[in-house]
Amino acid sequence: MKIVVIQGPNLNMLGVRERNIYGPMKLEDIHKQMKGFADQNKVEIEFFQSNLEGEIVDRIQECVGDADGIIINPAAYTHTSIAIRDAISAVQIPTLEVHLSNIHQREEFRHKSLTAAVCAGQIIGMGPFGYHLAMVGMLQILNEIQAMRQAQAAREQTQANA
Ligand code: DQA
Repeated sequence: MKIVVIQGPNLNMLGVRERNIYGPMKLEDIHKQMKGFADQNKVEIEFFQSNLEGEIVDRIQECVGDADGIIINPAAYTHTSIAIRDAISAVQIPTLEVHLSNIHQREEFRHKSLTAAVCAGQIIGMGPFGYHLAMVGMLQILNEIQAMRQAQAAREQTQANA
């Protein structure tokens, strides 16, 4: 199983940027923790960060046939990007949206997420721990999908044998 983690604009500046909102942890340290958890659970994981909307759309599209799940923090594009929303919707891969801060406690323009409606779930306001929660949530989603597929295969086998 493979999870792709996609990080939007300015998240490469975590640890430096508005530490009062986003905390002191750097993106690479968040990724190190996620990699440790993925290794423990024998899941492949890949990380991607871009400040460019089109590159994020491209990376989502590249997940087809490659990734089983996507964890994404579209950052500022959350509130503006129909293109990223459409890409998530197009690929039909279970996706979880993460925000370090509680976007509902902040400026009004951050209250609306264009991407959340096409994601399986959203985790907000938990700081870097939100990424760990997303990993746990994604493993649960992928295990449920696998169990459903196995049950379906077993039903088909029973029908074929009848
Ligand atoms: C963010 C929230 C967004 O509103 C903001 O533009 C970000 C980070 C978060 O993780 O809290 O860049 O996605």
